[in-house]
Amino acid sequence: MNDKSKQDNLFASPLGDVPRFTFDQAVVDVFPDMIQRSVPGYQTIINLCGELAARYVQPGSNCYDLGCSLGASSLAIAQQVKQPGVSIVAVDNSAAMLSRCKSVLEKTPSTAVIELVEADICDIEISNASLVVMNFTLQFIAIEKRQALLEKIYAGLNPGGCLVISEKLLFEPESLNQLLSELHHQFKSAQGYSDLEISQKRDSLENFLLPETLETHIHRIKACGFNSASPWFQCFNFASLVAIK
Ligand SMILES: C[S@@+](CC[C@H](N)C(=O)[O-])C[C@H]1O[C@@H](n2cnc3c(N)ncnc32)[C@H](O)[C@@H]1O
Repeated sequence: MNDKSKQDNLFASPLGDVPRFTFDQAVVDVFPDMIQRSVPGYQTIINLCGELAARYVQPGSNCYDLGCSLGASSLAIAQQVKQPGVSIVAVDNSAAMLSRCKSVLEKTPSTAVIELVEADICDIEISNASLVVMNFTLQFIAIEKRQALLEKIYAGLNPGGCLVISEKLLFEPESLNQLLSELHHQFKSAQGYSDLEISQKRDSLENFLLPETLETHIHRIKACGFNSASPWFQCFNFASLVAIK
C-alpha cells in the first residue's frame, strides 16, 4: 500500500471510559500502521490473496473484497489477476475508509477495474464470483447474521470459486484462549505498543469484535455446502481459512 500512514497512538493516553471502537477518520489515518502492528501475519495473508487470485479467478468473473478498508486485499488481487474481463468489487460501510481507499487506489497503478461500494456487506448482491475475500471483517458482523452472509457468498460463487476468511479466533478451554491472548499481547508489545495501549484497545473492541472458534467457522462454511475448507495460516489467535465451492 503506497498511502502514508501515521503511527497509531490512538490508545496511548488514559481515556477514562474507553469508547467503543469505530472505523472513523482517526482510525483511517493510522490504519495501515495499526493493522500491521496488531495482526500477526497480516502482510502474509494479504499477499496470499494475490496468489489465490492468480489460481482461482475465472475470466469474466467478479472478485469481492468484503470489508475492504484501504483496499490492501483488492490491490493484492489486482496485481496478480491476468485473466481478462475481471472486476474487483471492494465493499465497506465506513465512508471515511472508502474515501481514503479511493485516494490510495488512485495513486496505485493497476490494470484491473476496482469498483468501490459503500454498503453493509450483509445487504449487497454477490454474483458471478470466483474469489471472495473477507479479511478480518466477519468478526465485526453480528453472530446471528453470519450464516446468512456465508450462504449468500456461497450462492454467488461460481463452481470452483474460492472464499478466504481471516479472523481473530477464540479458543477452548479458557486456559488455551488465555495463552494465545498473552502471546498476542507479547507480539503487540514487541511492536512498540504499551500495556496501556493494549488494554484500552482491548476494552474498545470488547463486545464489538466477536471472535469464534476455528471449529465454528469450519462447521458454518461446510454447512453452506463448500466442498472443502481449511485454515492455511495461523499465528497465535489469528488465522486465515480457505474454502472452495
Ligand atoms: C479490520 S478492517 C478489515 C481490514 C481489511 N480487510 C484489510 O485487509 O486491510 C474491518 C473493515 O470492515 C468494515 N466493516 C465492518 N462491518 C462492516 C459491514 N457490516 N459492512 C461493510 N463493511 C464493514 C470496517 O469499516 C472496516 O473497514
